Amino acid sequence: MSTEKLWAGRFKKRLDDKANDFNTSLPFDMRMYRQDIEGSIAHAKMLALQGIITVEDGEAIVKGLTGILEDIERGRLSIEGEYEDIHSFVEGKLTERIGDAGKRLHTARSRNDQVALDIRLYLRNECDKIEGLLKDLILTVAELAEKHADTVMCGYTHLQRAQPITFGQHLLAYAFMFLRDLDRLRDCRKRMNISPLGSCALAGTGFPIDRLKVAELLGMDGICENSLDGVSDRDFAAELAFVLSLTMTHLSRFSEEIILWCSWEFKFIELDDSFSTGSSIMPQKKNADIAELVRGKTGRAYGNLIALLTVLKGLPLAYNKDMQEDKEAIFDSVDTVKNALAVFAPMLKTMKVNKENMRKAAAEGFINATDGADYLTAKGIPFRTAYKIMGEIVAYCIENGKTLETLSLAEYRKFSDAFEADVYQAIDLDQCVAKRNSRGGTGRESVNRQIEIVKKALQQ
Ligand code: ARG
Repeated sequence: MSTEKLWAGRFKKRLDDKANDFNTSLPFDMRMYRQDIEGSIAHAKMLALQGIITVEDGEAIVKGLTGILEDIERGRLSIEGEYEDIHSFVEGKLTERIGDAGKRLHTARSRNDQVALDIRLYLRNECDKIEGLLKDLILTVAELAEKHADTVMCGYTHLQRAQPITFGQHLLAYAFMFLRDLDRLRDCRKRMNISPLGSCALAGTGFPIDRLKVAELLGMDGICENSLDGVSDRDFAAELAFVLSLTMTHLSRFSEEIILWCSWEFKFIELDDSFSTGSSIMPQKKNADIAELVRGKTGRAYGNLIALLTVLKGLPLAYNKDMQEDKEAIFDSVDTVKNALAVFAPMLKTMKVNKENMRKAAAEGFINATDGADYLTAKGIPFRTAYKIMGEIVAYCIENGKTLETLSLAEYRKFSDAFEADVYQAIDLDQCVAKRNSRGGTGRESVNRQIEIVKKALQQ
């Protein structure tokens, strides 16, 4: 079966089969069928409004395209055949169905501006879906933080026990990362939602087209002002690939902690059976495969970003076929992030938090030593001196198998006579956490403020 190529007039031989397979983008750009048809409908309406084609031809094209869309969606028309891409498929089917009017659709247009439009429309829609998933995740994290605003855990630096915090505060750190992802996504969408249609092959057209009308019909916020840029700009795809890479970075860091927290060494959480897997040989195993896969798939997102930037870096203006490589990369990033987000929120929602173990870890490791130093500082001892005294006390405790809580007042006073009975209150874990109400701190008031900020941001 040989479908006539769009450029058949100029050529004497048909394309070699292997070259055709190599050249075609239909297997992966078919997912843009809806956007391709919507773009063509807007273009045809504009052509008719401007008197570039007749009203009758315009109507026949719109009707024909609407029928094709319906048939694809109802499974009556499958996207296959020896077409170079989704654009030639749709145009080919249209012409098969409505004859000559179909051949007028491509007036004042090229596949170069057509494909640039289709990707923008497709990705715009994907951005909206990802926005919904991100918001759902942020809300899940905020609600979990609310529930654990008083759950004391050990905070780490260098993965060494550092200072007492709450699990709520820890979770909120991720909520803020995801909020920034949301903000970046929306910002990227702004530059994406601009119409390149009318740039034509590269130089615009002599036909009296109305580019703003097409943009308006498609719900776009403006037009690309330079036709060469219009057909060769894929910044929006690279930007999105970066936004998604950073989102994956955040998901991956969160995953890493989840994996650590459900290890026997930590036992801070237990993932629900429905989000864990077992081992084929070790009966005791319960693995955090979902989190591991999210961490692992982050590599893909980075790879796609580098692939896109590399494809673009050496391209002369304007369109080059290299640009066809944009789609698989950015589609894969979009799919990866959507799939990761779709499992992440329910994984968090269903996990069990082991407050006792969190508390136990917080009670060991002298994580209230800074609070001891702050206590002495409040009593007038310079902080640097207070820090040194507490260091000596910690060393003494380690040597004698004691903790700051079990050290007697007499022992404390051997190091400084500024110590009084109220030192025990100062180093009490709950107190240590409760008093850190500086903006952004781990104290209850501060955590409540953070939850409020996150929830408010979600309403925008
Ligand atoms: N399949 C092509 C792409 O994805 C569409 C544009 C083809 N344009 C051309 N002049 N061959 O980039």
